[in-house]
Amino acid sequence: MKRKRIAIVATGGTIAGAGEVGRSLEYRAGEISVSEIIESIPNINALAELECHQLFSLDSNEMDPDKWLVLARTINGLLDRDDIDGCVVTHGTDTLDETSYFLNLTISSDKPVVLTGAMRPATATSADGPFNLYQSVALAASAQAVGKGVMALFSSTIYSGRDIEKINNFRVDAFNHKDFGCLGFMQDDDVYFYSRVYRKHTFESVFSEQLPEKLPSVAVAYFCAGADPDILYHLSERNEGIVIAGTGSGNYSEAWLSAINELSSKGIVFVRSSRVNMGIVFDDEIFDPKHLCIASNTLSAQKARVLLMLCLSRTKDLGEIKRIFEEY
Ligand code: SIN
Repeated sequence: MKRKRIAIVATGGTIAGAGEVGRSLEYRAGEISVSEIIESIPNINALAELECHQLFSLDSNEMDPDKWLVLARTINGLLDRDDIDGCVVTHGTDTLDETSYFLNLTISSDKPVVLTGAMRPATATSADGPFNLYQSVALAASAQAVGKGVMALFSSTIYSGRDIEKINNFRVDAFNHKDFGCLGFMQDDDVYFYSRVYRKHTFESVFSEQLPEKLPSVAVAYFCAGADPDILYHLSERNEGIVIAGTGSGNYSEAWLSAINELSSKGIVFVRSSRVNMGIVFDDEIFDPKHLCIASNTLSAQKARVLLMLCLSRTKDLGEIKRIFEEY
C-alpha cells in the first residue's frame, strides 16, 4: 500500500513553547520550530511521509480572523494536492476551540484535518506535545478519519472541531466535548471511533465553497448581574453583530433587552448564547419576545461568533442566519 503523506502546518502555541528546562511554567509559546519537535519524536516518520510548513509562530492569543483565513487557504491548498492525504495543525490551546470550528466550516476537503497542541512546553519534563503530535499524525493518516470533519486530538481522545472546548487551565487533559462525550479514542497509533458529528462541516459546508476576503467584525458581550447596557451601544459602533454570553438559557436584564431591541432595529445582528457551558440555548419568548436574536444552540459564545462572522460575510437575513445556526 502507498505510504500516506501528511502535511503539518505549525502555528505556534505551548507545543512549541520554550522556558527553563524541566519546568512547565513561565515559558514563551511558539519558540521552537515544528521540524525540531518532529525530530524529537521516536518513530513518527514510520507513520507517514511528513512535510512541515511553519506558517506562524504565535501564542494563540495572537490568532485572529485574518490569520484564520490565511490558515484555511493554506490547508485547502495543501489538501487540493493529490499527493497529500491529510493535515495536522499545531496550535496553542487557548483559542484552539475557535480555530477548530472555523476550519470545520471552511475546509473544502474530506481529507482528515487534526488540530493538536500541548499544555506543557516542549522544554518541560513530561511534555505532552510530542505524543499528541504523534497520535495526530496517525489519526490524519487513518482511512477511518476521512469525512469526519475537522478534529482535535489531546490525551489520546478524538474531539470534533465543532464541539471541543478547553475546560481546564493547568491539567494535561484540558479539553472536553460538551455533553457529547467525544468522537473516539486512540491507543498509540490505533484509532477507535465511537460517534460522529451530525452538524454540517467541511465539504458539506456552504462556507467552504468560497472564502471571503475579510470577515465582518462581531463582538462578544458578557452579561453579569447589573451589567450596564452601554457596552452594547459601544460595541454596535464598530461591529456588525454581537453575541451575548447570557446567564442560564441565554438570559439578561430588561435593560439589555431594550438595548438589543433598539440596536436590532438599526441592523445589528444579535446571537443569544450562554455563559453556562453545558446545555442548549433555544428561541425564547421572555428574553427575546420579538424574536430578534438568533439562538446559539450548543455553541459557546466564541464559537457562535465564528459562525456569525461567516454568516454575515454572505447575508444579513435573520431567517437565513437562524436556519444556518440550526444546521451547523
Ligand atoms: C497558546 O494558546 O498559544 C498558549 C497556551 C497553550 O498553548 O496551552
